[in-house]
Amino acid sequence: MNSLLLTGIGELVSNHPGTGDGTPLGLLRDAAVVVEHGRVAWTGAATRAPAADTSYDVGGRAVIPGFVDSHSHLVFAGDRAEEFAARMTGTPYTAGGIRTTVYATRAATDEQLAANVARHVGEMRRQGTTTVEIKSGYGLTVADEARSLAIARQATRETTFLGAHVVPPEYALDPAGYVDLVTGPMLDACAPYARWVDVFCETGAFDADQARTILRAGEARGLAGRLHANQLGPGPGVRLACELGLAAVDHCTYLSDADVDALAGSGTVATLLPGVEFSTRSPYPDARRLLDAGCRVALASDCNPGSSYTSSMPLCIALAVREMRMTPAEALHAATRGGAAALRRDDVGHLADGAAADLVVLDAPSYLHLAYRPGVPLVHQVFVGGAATL
Ligand code: NIG
Ligand code: FE
Repeated sequence: MNSLLLTGIGELVSNHPGTGDGTPLGLLRDAAVVVEHGRVAWTGAATRAPAADTSYDVGGRAVIPGFVDSHSHLVFAGDRAEEFAARMTGTPYTAGGIRTTVYATRAATDEQLAANVARHVGEMRRQGTTTVEIKSGYGLTVADEARSLAIARQATRETTFLGAHVVPPEYALDPAGYVDLVTGPMLDACAPYARWVDVFCETGAFDADQARTILRAGEARGLAGRLHANQLGPGPGVRLACELGLAAVDHCTYLSDADVDALAGSGTVATLLPGVEFSTRSPYPDARRLLDAGCRVALASDCNPGSSYTSSMPLCIALAVREMRMTPAEALHAATRGGAAALRRDDVGHLADGAAADLVVLDAPSYLHLAYRPGVPLVHQVFVGGAATL
């Protein structure tokens, strides 16, 4: 098959302001898309669509770019359902449970970890995610971090070395020694499998000086930086990310005016993770404040067994609209093009000519239903590189 015509599209979201209604979503009604060699070759009015080798009528449904989930921790074993239940009766989230998952992950075989990654990536795909970033960070030894990334690499090219997730128990009395391990032998073993380096910059994890050291060491081995910051309280992480020109800083729950100003004046994407606030019963980040200040915002799942065990980007969109004062259009844009920007990718998150033909057919007439019908499975079909996957 050389070319495919998707027709009967009731509403097309291209994320290309040059087509359609001129808004950032580039909305077009009664549209068609032509795919050639895995890429978008043409979008426009269905009545003007060129012929193609095969065609697929979506029956008036909405079509959107596949979700770009730019933050997940899928290489783990076990779960922490009891910890979640305790939180729902008032126990606060402290990130201390990360160590529980570290023990379970170290005890798992490569096959078990790979099967767990594949299961969660499949879950994501069925909910419309076509690009996913996956971090290490539950191994925290040289061998366990390297195998975590090798396993993640089988599922995505967007892999992130997070050896600096927390200081593991065996280094509790020597955190500086752990930073030396991360920036030396661990990075050497992990860099071949990673595109990114990340640090959990938060009280109780790593401070700004340690984060800077680790990010620089990663950069010296060809890894681009991103950060977890300002999740559990105010801190220096967001400003550090902006100062270093990182692609993204994730969580951004507790922000000062200076943090917002720094984000607005930078190319760093603020990635908001509402599954975390849902699952930890914490206050949601103020997306409206960031958007009104001109900051670039992405939405991601942060899928992990502790703070956010959801793989659902539609849930993140619904939460962002209901709890974070984003419009449905802003939330969809943040979950697609915003995620792509957080990964510095131009080829995904939109459907302009030449983009990857990663798109989702919704069982709904409009993208608005993603937030309007929370919890309802609205994904009808998912195309990756032009191929139907469901
Ligand atoms: O992004 N903040 C640090 N890391 C994860 C949580 C991991 C866990 O609780 O297991 C996060 O929320
Ligand atoms: Fe995370």
